[in-house]
Amino acid sequence: MPKINPKRLLTDLQRLREHGACGSGVVRPAFSAQDMEARNWLKSRYQQAGLDTTIDGVGNVFGRSKNSGPALLIGSHSDTQPTGGWLDGALGVIYGLEVARALSEAPETAGLAVDAVAWQDEESRYYSSLGSRSFAGKLTPEQEAGVTDKQGFPLSDAIAKAGLSQIPRQHLDPDRYVGFLEAHIEQGPHLEEDGKKLGIVTDIVGLHGAVFKIRGQQNHAGTTMMSGRKDAAAALYALANAINEEFPKTAGDRSVWTMGRAVIHPGAASIIPGYAELELQFRDRSSRVLDSFAETVQRLVVELNARDGAQIETELAREKIPPAPMDEGLQSLLIQAAEKNAAGKWVKMPSGAFHDAGVLHDVMPCAMLFIPSIGGVSHDFAENSHDEDIVMGCQVLADAATLILQNL
Ligand code: HGY
Ligand code: MN
Ligand code: MN
Repeated sequence: MPKINPKRLLTDLQRLREHGACGSGVVRPAFSAQDMEARNWLKSRYQQAGLDTTIDGVGNVFGRSKNSGPALLIGSHSDTQPTGGWLDGALGVIYGLEVARALSEAPETAGLAVDAVAWQDEESRYYSSLGSRSFAGKLTPEQEAGVTDKQGFPLSDAIAKAGLSQIPRQHLDPDRYVGFLEAHIEQGPHLEEDGKKLGIVTDIVGLHGAVFKIRGQQNHAGTTMMSGRKDAAAALYALANAINEEFPKTAGDRSVWTMGRAVIHPGAASIIPGYAELELQFRDRSSRVLDSFAETVQRLVVELNARDGAQIETELAREKIPPAPMDEGLQSLLIQAAEKNAAGKWVKMPSGAFHDAGVLHDVMPCAMLFIPSIGGVSHDFAENSHDEDIVMGCQVLADAATLILQNL
C-alpha cells in the first residue's frame, strides 16, 4: 500500500495556513486577496505533484491526474469563515494533494487516477458551497444574479477582481469519476469524548434558515409609554425567546438552531429601535424536522404581528439544503482502511456541519472521513487537531483511495 509523507503533509498544511494567518487562526474569505494567493499556491503545488492544474471561472482549483479514469476526486474547500480555524477545509484539500502524490509515487498504484480539488466559497461568503454547486451544475444564472456578500459587494465583481470572469467553469464529467472523498476535522466533541480517532460519516445534516426584518417606530425612550410602543428590538427578543421555547417540542436528538446575527437600529440607549434584523439557521438529519421548524417560525411571526407592535417580515433562506446520505459502498472501504490503521478506534457518525460532499452526494458517490478536533472547537481561531491524528487520517484516506480504485 502507498505510504503518505507525514513531514510533507504537515509542511504543506502549515504553508497553506500562512495565507491569511491571523494569530492561531486564518482569515481567508472567498475571493479575498489571501484566498486567491492560496489558490495560486495550491495550483503550483498541484503542478509540482505532476497534476494538470486549472483555476476555473468560480475559483475552484483542480489538479487532474494524467492517468485516464476512472478517477477519484479528493479534496475540500480552501476558503474560510471570517474568523476561521486553520484546518476547516484546508485539511481535506491538502489530504487530496498528498494522497495524489503518495499513490503516484508507489509503483503498484502509479497508474491509478486521483484528482485533487479545492472548492470555492463553501463558507458562503457569497453563496453556500458556490464552487461545488457550480461543478455539480446546481448553480443557475438566476440564482447567481444579484448575489452579494454581507457588505453588499457583488459576486460578479469579486469574480472579475480575481481575473476569472472570462475563465470557463469546470463541470462534472460523470464518466471520469467513481466518487468524491472529503476528509474534514469533526468540528465537534464526539470523537475526542469517545476516545476515537476516525469518524466515517453516514450522513450530513440538512440546513435551512431565515432572516427576519422587523420594522417599528423609532421614538423617545423616556416620553413614549410602554403601551403605545412599536419597539423593533422588543419584537426581536420576543421572537427569539419563542423560537427557543417552541423548537424543542419538535426537535430531534441532533437538532440545532442558531441566531448568530442581530441588528438593532439605531442602537442608542435613549431611542426606541425602529428597525431590527435577526438571522436564524437550523439544522437536522431529517427533512421532516426542518419543515416543522419552518412551520413553527411562520406561526410565531403571525402570532407576534397580531400584537400590532413592530411588524416582522420573514425572508426564508435562499437555499433549503436537504440532508445528504453518504455512499454505503465507499463508507465500507473507508471502514476497512480505518480498521487497518486504527483497529477499533473508528466510529460511524453523522456530520453536524455542512460540507461540499453534501452538495455532490446526488451527482456522484460521496464519502467523508473525520479526524478529532481538540476540545471540539471549530469556526474559531482556537481550532486545532493533533499532528498524529492528522497524519493517521491521511494514511487512512490513501489506503481507502487505493482500495476503491483497485476494486473497480
Ligand atoms: O457551517 C458549516 O457547517 C460549514 O462549516 N460551512
Ligand atoms: Mn466551516
Ligand atoms: Mn468546512
